[in-house]
Amino acid sequence: MPATSLDQVVSLCKRRGFIFPGSEIYGGLANTWDYGPLGVELKNRVKREWWNHFIHKQTDMVGLDASILMNPKVWEASGHVGSFADLISSCKHCKKMVREDHWPELVENSHWFQSLAKLYRNEEVSLLDLKAWGEKDAKTLAPNLAIVRNPSVTISWLAEFLENASKATKDSNEDILILSSMKELIKYLATEQLATTGLLMPCPYCGGELTPPKPFNLMFKTQQGVIEGEGTDIYLRPETAQGIFVNFLNVSQSMRMRLPFGIGQIGKAFRNEVTPGNFTFRTREFEQMEIEYFFDPEREDWKKLYEQWKARSMEFIQDVLGISKENLRLRDHEPDELAHYAKGTTDIEYNFPFGWGELCAAVAYRSDYDLKQHEKFSGQSLQYTDPDDAQRKITPHVMEPSFGSDRVTLAVLIDAYTEEELENGDVRTVMKFDKRLSPIDIAILPLSKKEHLVAKAKEVHEMLLEHTNLVTDFDVTGSIGKRYRRQDEIGTPLCITVDFGTIGEDSEQGDPDTVTIRDRDTLEQKRVKISDLRAEIAEYWKN
Ligand code: GAP
Repeated sequence: MPATSLDQVVSLCKRRGFIFPGSEIYGGLANTWDYGPLGVELKNRVKREWWNHFIHKQTDMVGLDASILMNPKVWEASGHVGSFADLISSCKHCKKMVREDHWPELVENSHWFQSLAKLYRNEEVSLLDLKAWGEKDAKTLAPNLAIVRNPSVTISWLAEFLENASKATKDSNEDILILSSMKELIKYLATEQLATTGLLMPCPYCGGELTPPKPFNLMFKTQQGVIEGEGTDIYLRPETAQGIFVNFLNVSQSMRMRLPFGIGQIGKAFRNEVTPGNFTFRTREFEQMEIEYFFDPEREDWKKLYEQWKARSMEFIQDVLGISKENLRLRDHEPDELAHYAKGTTDIEYNFPFGWGELCAAVAYRSDYDLKQHEKFSGQSLQYTDPDDAQRKITPHVMEPSFGSDRVTLAVLIDAYTEEELENGDVRTVMKFDKRLSPIDIAILPLSKKEHLVAKAKEVHEMLLEHTNLVTDFDVTGSIGKRYRRQDEIGTPLCITVDFGTIGEDSEQGDPDTVTIRDRDTLEQKRVKISDLRAEIAEYWKN
């Protein structure tokens, strides 16, 4: 079966009630997504597993739920007001914004770049071909490229340039431009007059001229207060982490925590991203699951802690969520990519359908930067007193694992998506979620709509609702084959079928008071007594 495409996942999510486009009846709001009934169950389970793994199962961890709105000084102290910015350019023609570091990828994925690639062979391209391309194919694909708007001017300076350039060679019949890369070529095609402007960067969307990159702050600003224009400027938090730092003393003192210890929280964060996209991968409103693990740098070896957190984060993604090992890799940040506060960062990357991308920060070593900054800006001491030596006061250092709930849920969806060829040649789509994550645990399916059969199935359903904590679905509509198909597509691990055998009307289907349990993955069907059902199900979830 072919590798999963993002479109397949987006379509299944909409069709089956996982994720819908935001504000759809108003034509949507770009890059906003609403979690439907199954999506919210799935994301809640991802969050529940995270909380269990990191907070409940670790004795040195506690939780927190801080406000989204914080005193604006928090963001001055953290450095977000001054330096939480992307370098962006805007297109002088279509006005779209482009993040400088996203430009190469956006261009490479554009239709016009791919069309141009067909002309570009072995680092050579003839001016005649380029002129023809500018006058024809590129007209609709990149209408604002200089070579499209004014082909003769661009071609004539290119010809002149060829005469002089040492790298260019002149063929006897044609002018041939020899360039080291396509990226170099497109700058030539975006430029009308080299002498006056120098080479220009083309817009990935329309080919128009991009302005030189300028910093753009990513925080959403709003006002607190009831009179417009007279309120205080405040921000929607761009990360949950700062809520933890400002509560460091409250938590450590009220909970009598001893170093090393960690505080975790899950909550919304907002960033006015310049290039959101790829479904829920990058959005402007998203949720984070973050930990700040405080330690005494004189008593702990930071390198050891760093490795431990890397392993714990990977364990969560791989073993707890069940994401396939072959789609995961660790990547250490290069020194020039590190955030202003970080001394080291390692990401976990996932092999998304659009390429390898950051899934989460397995760990970042933030040193004592944040606590020190908050001491400076608030004027309050945030020092920790050594419980064994009251004279010894220190500012703890921190390790920070940081996960995006939406991005992790997206990876879970992509990883679970499977198309399987059955023996009869049919293809079934099945979401092979880990059984702890499936939005529905068990479906109860009466074989037909006959009243007394449905009544028996309802009895079984009510018994499960009363005696277990399972999330159930009861479905009577459509043929049994179609209902199995739907349950496969939403990833329900077990289906219970109540048939005419169950009600003593067809001994070939089974004995009275027995039902069939169907396993999503193996497709095995097992006949069990209703009285043994709870024990059977408990056994299944135990493994
Ligand atoms: N406190 C550190 C911090 O916020 P980050 O690498 O900017 O670090 C951590 O964000 C995680 O949050 C990312 O690995 C990703 O999972 C998620 N995330 C960040 N920006 C996001 C966005 N615009 N949309 C969805 N998830 C995002």
